[in-house]
Amino acid sequence: TGKRAFIAGVADDNGYGWAIAKSLAAAGAEILVGTWVPALNIFESSLRRGKFDESRKLPDGSLMQITKVYPLDAVYDNPEDVPEDVKTNKRYLGSSNWTVEEVAQSVKQDFGSIDILVHSLANGPESTFLEQVTKPLLDTSRSGYLAAISASSYSFISLLKHFAPIINPGGASISLTYIASERIIPGYGGGMSSAKAALESDTRVLAFEAGRKHKVRVNTISAGPLRSRAAKAIGFIDMMIDYSSANAPLQKELSAEEVGNAAAFLASPLASAITGTVFYVDNGLNAMGVGV
Ligand code: NAI
Repeated sequence: TGKRAFIAGVADDNGYGWAIAKSLAAAGAEILVGTWVPALNIFESSLRRGKFDESRKLPDGSLMQITKVYPLDAVYDNPEDVPEDVKTNKRYLGSSNWTVEEVAQSVKQDFGSIDILVHSLANGPESTFLEQVTKPLLDTSRSGYLAAISASSYSFISLLKHFAPIINPGGASISLTYIASERIIPGYGGGMSSAKAALESDTRVLAFEAGRKHKVRVNTISAGPLRSRAAKAIGFIDMMIDYSSANAPLQKELSAEEVGNAAAFLASPLASAITGTVFYVDNGLNAMGVGV
């Protein structure tokens, strides 16, 4: 209660970012979100038109309020980084101040500080990404690999770097990862498995650095499969959900809300000694050695 959260990577009501926003709102936090620039118009108009009202419902019957939606492209740190073709792209022309550094500045101007930073984004849904993510690592191009790391791993470093100065001491940051970082998950390609491995390693190093410098905790949630927009794009999500239901210790489908609730716990004072961890919210599938 009384906390303010910035959640990067919310553009509809299907993904983990939305569910985390809801769990934090239910716990009394004020919600700010960062939405990928090309998805901003549809998200804001859907919000306004009430398309998400059903899924905005909180346990007490009220509707989640999103205090402000910021356009964000986490692949760019500041305006000097933005290539000309993106600057002049008509999907970007209508928005301003959407690089990571500018968003952090805007949040600082608008609200002064935050308590919770959530990174719930992975490589964008552009066609180049879709082409890459379905590729085996052996067939991944250098540029595809670097793009995966840039959007899915460095984006967290950049967000934490620019937001840490305005995160109140005792605050928390959380990202989302996937077990393909540590076990072979055929089909999670294009360098995404590598990107998640980097994200998990960075979680430990950043926990040390941000802990010492800002008294901010850094954790990542290794989530089980969810039928989000991004996951549907990868293409094998139904198979992964069926595999988990068949083989995990808990034989039920994972709901986004379960991940949202774990994130609310990790962001709360209940988790005040937890930092640098990979926190599994996957019905226990990670603990299995063989499927039975
Ligand atoms: P999602 O599609 O709801 O979320 C991804 C979001 O990232 C989208 O809103 C997209 O617009 C945004 N995004 C992409 N590129 C961006 C950029 N350059 N700048 C700003 N925003 C950008 O999908 P989902 O699955 O909820 O993904 C959230 C996180 O959860 C990701 O890190 C994903 O890897 C992770 N995860 C997902 C699992 C699943 O089965 N869905 C399993 C384990 C982890």
